[in-house]
Amino acid sequence: MSIQVHKKTPIFLINGEKSSYVFGWDAKFQALRHIYWDKRVSNVKDFEFLPLKELSANESEWDIMMEDYAPWGGRRYKTPCIKATFADGTRDIVFEFLKYEIRDNILTVYLKDRHYNFFITLYYQIIEKLDILSRWVEIENKESNDIIIENLYSAAFHVPEIGMDSTQVKGYWAGEQQLFTERLFPGRKIFESRKGTTSHNHSPYFILSKNATEYEGEVYFGVLAYSGNFKVSIDVSQYDITSVTLGINDFDFTYRLKPGEKFTAPKAYAGYSTEGFSDMSNRMNQFALEYILPKENSGKLRKILYNSWEATEFNISVDQQIKLAKIAAEIGIELFVVDDGWFGGRNSDSAGLGDWYPNKEKFPNSLSELIKKVNDLGMDFGIWVEPEMVSPDSNLYRLHPDWIYNFPNRDPTTARNQLVLNLTRDEVQEYLISALDKLLEENNIAFLKWDMNRPISEPGALNLDRIDQKSLWYRHTQAVFNIVGALRRNHPNVVFEGCSSGGGRVDYGALEHFDQFWTSDNTDALDRLYIQEGYSVMYPIKAMCAWVTDVPNCHTKKTTPLDFRFHCAMMGVLGLGINLLKCSEEELEMIKEKIKEYKEIRHVVQEGKLYRISSLRKSEIHVVQYVLDERESVFFAFLKGQKYISLPYQYTVKMKGLDPAVEYTITGKDSKYKKNGDYLMNVGINIYMIGDYQSQILKIQAK
Ligand code: GLA
Repeated sequence: MSIQVHKKTPIFLINGEKSSYVFGWDAKFQALRHIYWDKRVSNVKDFEFLPLKELSANESEWDIMMEDYAPWGGRRYKTPCIKATFADGTRDIVFEFLKYEIRDNILTVYLKDRHYNFFITLYYQIIEKLDILSRWVEIENKESNDIIIENLYSAAFHVPEIGMDSTQVKGYWAGEQQLFTERLFPGRKIFESRKGTTSHNHSPYFILSKNATEYEGEVYFGVLAYSGNFKVSIDVSQYDITSVTLGINDFDFTYRLKPGEKFTAPKAYAGYSTEGFSDMSNRMNQFALEYILPKENSGKLRKILYNSWEATEFNISVDQQIKLAKIAAEIGIELFVVDDGWFGGRNSDSAGLGDWYPNKEKFPNSLSELIKKVNDLGMDFGIWVEPEMVSPDSNLYRLHPDWIYNFPNRDPTTARNQLVLNLTRDEVQEYLISALDKLLEENNIAFLKWDMNRPISEPGALNLDRIDQKSLWYRHTQAVFNIVGALRRNHPNVVFEGCSSGGGRVDYGALEHFDQFWTSDNTDALDRLYIQEGYSVMYPIKAMCAWVTDVPNCHTKKTTPLDFRFHCAMMGVLGLGINLLKCSEEELEMIKEKIKEYKEIRHVVQEGKLYRISSLRKSEIHVVQYVLDERESVFFAFLKGQKYISLPYQYTVKMKGLDPAVEYTITGKDSKYKKNGDYLMNVGINIYMIGDYQSQILKIQAK
């Protein structure tokens, strides 16, 4: 049984295949005490609450204990999960345990405030085979007055240890997903976003470890399925406990829960592993593929797209796009995407956003002329939109200058010459749904790239009561997915790509609505090795779009060989952003070959396990291996730059994830040989690379 209860207390034991999570209601302290999160234990009856005694009047038992979900109330001074103000001014919650229920691997714990009719229901669901615990919380106001929620985190997790390492990513536009690990010392460490999207800066997850490597050691991890202002707070207490709370950011947040209203906080997914970071990533990858990605497309392999954004920017025309489409079809592209610049008066980034109809000069016969051509060439057609925005120079803004976020007596600040639409207004949502619906209805569009290129500022919404203003951040996120949801319902076959100036909206909340992400505007292949490595730690490869673009790279001015660029992009969902009109016949032939090669391996890349065998962060070479069902594998190796001239150009690399007893055929560019799985994993293979920006790819196939 995956969920057991020791009824007297009650203590709950939630078991995955390899780990256990234990907590219970301690009537003495009126608290939901956390007991255990570690290797699997079979019998709930072996667990009990350890006695707790206050050390002094300054160290309350509630601060010393680990609470699975702590209210702010009584003598608690730690990070609480929930904080509220009742109508009479009381700012204190006291939990009362009502009952529990177990159904379909979901444990539901019903709590209420001891005095007020304020109900707090906690859910725990275990996916046994992946050892992933989902947690979420629902609150309900059955009072006759409003309750103001000031803080509502989704979950708290605890490890009764100190000296742990935290792994996160830091980043910025075109420099996302840069991994770093730091030792945690007593005090509070916060990762958050205040920008309205997840942002490029940090990711809504935590990873705690002690002496762990890619393949060994204990790792505790959890992600928040929320695509807006989030907060991850890691607290190392005075009492030698490391705790994490994660949820909607409480900065500039309040939510008025009206009588009779319910509110459900975003889900948190967590896991524990004794097999290092690789096991964590592969379990989350599988979890995303099976349970999170939109069902309509999760089972389908992602198509190879062409997008001319980097090559042409706003300077597009129907004739030029048709010329590009013809070449794209010849080299094996499956999806032809028109990016920014096709609509309204959009000739630069200073106009047009909000006017979601084709630009008459660029597309005199509407989009259908191009789409028909693209379809006749055997490709799907895709298009770019940025629905949350409006340009001051647009018909939409001239018609509805009051449709933006702003404060009275303040000038709204533009960024990239654009303002953010107030999506908390029903009529704005309705306008966007109808404009985009029309676009999808009237045109054979198979792919929509949804962009968001600036954070929210001056977060005021005149349509909301004063007391509701600080719920705006949350409402905006909900509105985005409400619109996406409506479009998906009407157009179930359309693939949605999430983008926010590259990777500013990469998270498990967005992953429920977008089939794939535009990972970064940085398409420099060397930088991408780092960005993709950081991404792969928590997010599924099937959603990681990667393009091959022109050199010198438009942002970094770096020149890398075509092979290197391809091999890097082939490690994700391959796309092409090269200006095909400038390619020589020879280059087009090479590109065609590479696209063909990707088609042979993409099922392994997009659906297999991933092993980060060697990283440029720590070594001269970068090696990533993908393995599907222990039968098929693809192995990518990169050398950044030659160092010295002697031996190092021969590298011995041990493979991962194969069946030791099976014989495999290894095929490289100029080689083909057979080896047993145990040899490949224990002895390893020798790869030869010399020079700058070298790379190679090997295919490994069970006989
Ligand atoms: C953002 C995206 C790019 C491109 C441009 C268009 O920067 O990340 O991929 O779509 O907008 O303006």
